[in-house]
Amino acid sequence: MKQIKIAVLVSGGGTNLQALLDAQSSGIIKNGKISLVVSNNADAYALKRAENFGVESAVILKSELGSQEAFEDKLIDILKSNGTELIILAGFMSILSERFTKTFEKRIINVHPSLIPSFCGKGFYGLKVHEAALAYGVKVTGATVHFVNEIPDGGEIIMQKSVAIRGNDTAETLQRRVMEQAEWKILPRATEMVCKEILKKRKA
Ligand code: GAR
Repeated sequence: MKQIKIAVLVSGGGTNLQALLDAQSSGIIKNGKISLVVSNNADAYALKRAENFGVESAVILKSELGSQEAFEDKLIDILKSNGTELIILAGFMSILSERFTKTFEKRIINVHPSLIPSFCGKGFYGLKVHEAALAYGVKVTGATVHFVNEIPDGGEIIMQKSVAIRGNDTAETLQRRVMEQAEWKILPRATEMVCKEILKKRKA
């Protein structure tokens, strides 16, 4: 069976990467295969998760390459030589330029820990998103999987799932619950959906 070649871009702990790898093992993702993990942080635990699963990985450091442009050139090189057909940003903490997003139009997806259009865009990442939701006092938050274009968190929405906020939540407890109840569920499902769609279009 033909499968879409997936590359996952990470920066940190990699629990979303783990959810994707587990979904591949359990058959939730069947029309795609994770063939590469790329990190912009040499210490990311996500690299260990890739190694444990036997997935090839690479580290690209902007600090070594000198500029965002050089960083993206190297990233494009690696992705193209791997034959990547779908890029998943799973806790990847670097904003990609329009040149990059146009190179892989409709082929990059991201998971964001809020219900877009709330608490998203430049400056909203990781724990900061949950701090902002709690500070605002919303009673419901969640996660969004969307296509990536040149606007940070501005691409077409693929899937969302809501999560209730509790009175005693801290940013940390909320982050964990949004991951467990929303991100780790919708990222694998959305990935499978997009892989299926790409294969269907190819056949048509
Ligand atoms: C996740 O909550 C992800 O949604 C978020 O960072 C965390 C990474 O965790 N991403 C963003 O905020 C992107 N704007 P992980 O490394 O354990 O998957």
